[in-house]
Amino acid sequence: MSKKILVYGGSFDPPHRGHLLLLKAAFKAVRPDFCHVVPAFVSPFKSGPAESFVSRKRLIGLALEEAFSPAERKKITVDPFECRQKRKTYTYELLRHLRRRYPCAVFYLLMGSDCALSFGKWRNYREVAAGAQLLVGLRSDTPDTTPAREICSFRTLDGTFPPVSSTSVRSRIYSSGKVPHDVPDAVAGYIKKRGLYGLRAHKYLKTRLKPERCEHSLGVAKLARELAERHGGDPADAALAGLLHDAGKQYSRGRLRAFAARHGLLRKPWLREIAQNQPSLLHSFAGAVIARREFSVSSEDILLAVENHTLGRAGMTQLEKIIFVADASSEERGFRAAREIRAAAFKDLDAAVCKTAAMKLSHIIKGAKWFCPKGLELWNSLIRRAREKGSAE
Ligand SMILES: [Fe+2]
Ligand SMILES: [Fe+2]
Repeated sequence: MSKKILVYGGSFDPPHRGHLLLLKAAFKAVRPDFCHVVPAFVSPFKSGPAESFVSRKRLIGLALEEAFSPAERKKITVDPFECRQKRKTYTYELLRHLRRRYPCAVFYLLMGSDCALSFGKWRNYREVAAGAQLLVGLRSDTPDTTPAREICSFRTLDGTFPPVSSTSVRSRIYSSGKVPHDVPDAVAGYIKKRGLYGLRAHKYLKTRLKPERCEHSLGVAKLARELAERHGGDPADAALAGLLHDAGKQYSRGRLRAFAARHGLLRKPWLREIAQNQPSLLHSFAGAVIARREFSVSSEDILLAVENHTLGRAGMTQLEKIIFVADASSEERGFRAAREIRAAAFKDLDAAVCKTAAMKLSHIIKGAKWFCPKGLELWNSLIRRAREKGSAE
């Protein structure tokens, strides 16, 4: 009789209870002879310190130990196929690889209904559907799979599954320093022990920043996460950028000048002027260096957002806008203008950027402070954009 092979791919970054519930339901429905859990390759350039294959393999192992009997666990392999390719791998490639290993087997491919809805966009999806029976767990956020059924047939698992995602788990750890209950206990314990998913950054900031600055960093991380969710950005990237944005605040003005000189920051446009006139502004640029060197953040998007959170710049990315606005309007900033910016940001991010820049400009004029030309570039770009928009309407 043909062997039954259950295949379950995903980022598992980190694994959560939603993954386990789905896998358990599939075990019950199919009773597989073997199961391959296949963590996706996570590009080191895509995001922040999402964790390595080695860490994720350990976390998956702990999650499986918690949820499955020893006999069931013996059937499960955490398959390094995708991570060994060192690139994004498609499911049809994975199935071809497994078919070479089990030429006579029957394959079952497990997924949540959220993935099933995009199945028609998968590379060579017809080959995938012909080579494996699709097993779909209905998630409470995507219970209607009618559009997917028009593309291919699949078997639905009993029950409904929670709409948890690894991205949402990561974003909550970054923004709160706490591991949510969606993560199995043993996995949470290992994440805490190793300081994974930004927990080491939380500890670093707590020992170096004043308590009110730590509270502000958490406030910015939380608001940034919410704004990214609202505007279709990556909430984990936003939360991490928010968490780290003021890491450079640990230094005095003198040390910031020395830090900037040591790390070659004074070669960047305007930074020599900033160092002379208002060295405290260097903390944003120092923060980006700390994020990269101390916490291996390689995402240019996150680094730019940290770097430009105070002065902004003309032509900001969505994440830069989110951090620029969140820094000025996080919840612990109790003043009226902050509340107005916060409310505006959920409706129209560009309007909130204008409000933030105007508030900063008026603060500079009222305090008779030096106006950094970089801030002026942002202001002029916003005015230009508003005029172009006005003449287009
Ligand atoms: Fe700052
Ligand atoms: Fe800040």
